[in-house]
Amino acid sequence: MPNVTVGAVRERAPGERRVALVPEAVTLLRRAGLEVLIEAGAGSGVWFTDADYTAVGAAVVPPEELYARADAVLCVGPPDEEAATALRPGQTLIGLLEPLRHPALVQHLTERGIRTVSLDLLPRTLSRAQSMDALTSQANVAGYKAALLAADSYDRFFPMLTTAAGTMRPAQVLVLGAGVAGLQAIATARRLGAVVTAYDVRPESRGEVESLGARFLDIQRSPGTGSGAGQGGYARELTEEEQRAQRGALDAHVARSDIVITTAQVPGRKPPLLVTAAVLERMAPGAVVVDLAASELGGNVEGTEPDKTDVLENGVTLIGAGRLPSAMATAASTAYARNLVAVLRHLGRDGEIVLDPADEITAALTGVTEPEGGESS
Ligand code: NAI
Repeated sequence: MPNVTVGAVRERAPGERRVALVPEAVTLLRRAGLEVLIEAGAGSGVWFTDADYTAVGAAVVPPEELYARADAVLCVGPPDEEAATALRPGQTLIGLLEPLRHPALVQHLTERGIRTVSLDLLPRTLSRAQSMDALTSQANVAGYKAALLAADSYDRFFPMLTTAAGTMRPAQVLVLGAGVAGLQAIATARRLGAVVTAYDVRPESRGEVESLGARFLDIQRSPGTGSGAGQGGYARELTEEEQRAQRGALDAHVARSDIVITTAQVPGRKPPLLVTAAVLERMAPGAVVVDLAASELGGNVEGTEPDKTDVLENGVTLIGAGRLPSAMATAASTAYARNLVAVLRHLGRDGEIVLDPADEITAALTGVTEPEGGESS
């Protein structure tokens, strides 16, 4: 794609360590003929220096120059006000822009003539879109890290150990929500030797859970707890009554688990409440709960807050883990940058970035079509 200049910015959100391009991705883009700009210091959170980027052919520039020269600005999270103001009409912004969570931002950029490509709107069940699937690459990191965090906070072993001092029983881990992050959490907890049970409101996740050596918790037959499958592979939002019935069926399982990892999300909606404070009180001292859905909208567990760990009065550790990909930022950025290279390859045509509404993937990424999970209620 000669004539195309892309620029990766330094992320400014508090606690965000990821970067949109790592040097390996710069090499791929340079080989495809693109000019690559990197904002000075952009890679510092993932241990890449400016010199690492210049060594592979990128130009390290201050932000004013990046916004002045780039045809496409590459980011991880949505831009702050200053960055949004710096964007120019005709420029393309590519990143996890969260248009379902912050619709006003994308609308404002569009009104100013800035073209937005939101990786979180990718049609995920299309196999030709898989290499671009940043939600999956980041959720994989989050699920892995969640299991490690749980193991680290737990005061006992995950595996069954037979030692001279006797046999230690394995940890009982319960994973609620078996999407990408949940499945990776299951796989990681299993690798550490825990006994894992999992539950998802989409009945079709049973096969995936069982293929990882975990038991699927079958509450589907409990009164009021039918399938929660929505569109495009996502879950639908359950009614209040269904959520109550679901919690009623889950409570006893949660209360007797050593570790609970929750990952349940419904696109664009408040995460479902799966574990109430009353059930946390029934858990044994030393138990650990990790809530991956914790966000400013609330989480799957009553009382969790993102990036906050509490030890409750009964000795249960409650970890609000809303931003885990950033806690393993090098792996997350490497995968994300590969997703971006795939997106740029898809959008590049005749030396330009073309946003063709007739193309199914491009139409979804630019919000021209309804996202797969968007009508899930
Ligand atoms: P997500 O982050 O939106 O939600 C996580 C999980 O929570 C989902 O499995 C969802 O069913 C579950 N959930 C929602 N409400 C729940 C509730 N009340 N109780 C229990 N569980 C609940 O989902 P994620 O991980 O982004 O994956 C969503 C779907 O995308 C997958 O099911 C899959 O079908 C599809 N996908 C397909 C891919 C492919 O075909 N290559 C790749 C990645 C995802």
